[in-house]
Amino acid sequence: MRQIYLDYNATTPIAPSVQEAMLPFLCEHFGNPSSEHSLGRACQEAIEDARFKVASLLGADPEEIVFTSCGTESNNLALLGVFDSLGDGVSGSRASDARAAPKHLVISACEHPAVAAPAAALKKRGHAVSVVGCNTHGVIRLDAFEAALRPETVLVSIMHANNEIGVVQPISEIAKICRERGILLHTDAAQSTGKIRVSVDEMQVDLLTVAGHKLYAPKGIGVLFVRNGVSLTPILHGAGHESGLRPGTENTPYIVALGKAAELAGKCLDDAAQRLAMLRDALAAQLQAAIGEPLKILGAGAERLPNTLSLCFPNVISRDLLARCPEICASTGAACHSSEANMSDTLRAIRLTPEQAAGAVRLSVGWYTSEEDIERAANLLAAAWEALQ
Ligand SMILES: Cc1ncc(COP(=O)(O)O)c(C=O)c1O
Repeated sequence: MRQIYLDYNATTPIAPSVQEAMLPFLCEHFGNPSSEHSLGRACQEAIEDARFKVASLLGADPEEIVFTSCGTESNNLALLGVFDSLGDGVSGSRASDARAAPKHLVISACEHPAVAAPAAALKKRGHAVSVVGCNTHGVIRLDAFEAALRPETVLVSIMHANNEIGVVQPISEIAKICRERGILLHTDAAQSTGKIRVSVDEMQVDLLTVAGHKLYAPKGIGVLFVRNGVSLTPILHGAGHESGLRPGTENTPYIVALGKAAELAGKCLDDAAQRLAMLRDALAAQLQAAIGEPLKILGAGAERLPNTLSLCFPNVISRDLLARCPEICASTGAACHSSEANMSDTLRAIRLTPEQAAGAVRLSVGWYTSEEDIERAANLLAAAWEALQ
């Protein structure tokens, strides 16, 4: 059985040249980057080269790039780090009491659990959290967003592109509103980096998350962009690695891999996006033609990631549908929490009916998807759907 991998939003394979770049750092170049000798220095230089490459992809300064273990850690560092830097729970003097006053965070209703969960943790500590809804296409409602801001709002965290339906949020517009009020803005760009242009200056964000395994680097490496001048408190305590923001001996092989992946993504971004959109639209058209009944494509009325096709198959349960085509690797929601029986936050936020949500499938294409894959997948899915009627 030859598998058809249509789950690039869950994770990507490691690109061959990324693997080639990282392998020597698994064995040959094994030094500790903090060591002063030649083996250590070689690793330190490789890390700085990777930092430069990631910074170039994002339009950032290299010193604004902090390597972490994953997108989840980057999001935690952004949210908890901003609030910790403002001081909470520490009292004793008037000044620290003022710093300890509860602060306010704004997130969207479509955030990944890697943002929603640290937000919930901040709420447990006594801070206020507002969750702003989106329209039925999945785009945040800017009027509701503006209305949610308060004098004590210190941070906004709105994802750049949604992992389930691929919708891209108007981050520059959100940033303008935040800047006018002196509020910091974090965006989770785990899904968008490497798929569409991600520029920290165009978006005017203060903090931005990248997850290596979504852009052809291994799992277990991430980045937090921290704009110069933004004050963050580390969430791990140890030595002074990564400008004191992320202690722990650097994961040189994976950092090198992410640097190479960032370089590759930067080189092929526009061409790849065009090709992926063509494959995604061909898949939608072939499914539509084979099934006949109107297929609801989620987020179709908004700007979407070029690789993401999230759609509702009518009159079926998506898990049953995918079970009938084991060749296809796809997701019934977000892969990391698809076992949840309930509707995901995103599908609820765009106000799908339970019947529509039950038939929702996320098909996400990537660099190694072929036209043949698309044709086979469309035929298999259409046949499975027919059999379930
Ligand atoms: C939007 C988004 N944010 C964060 C994450 C978490 O990234 P990681 O798996 O690297 O922790 C994911 C992974 O699915 C994601 O899609």
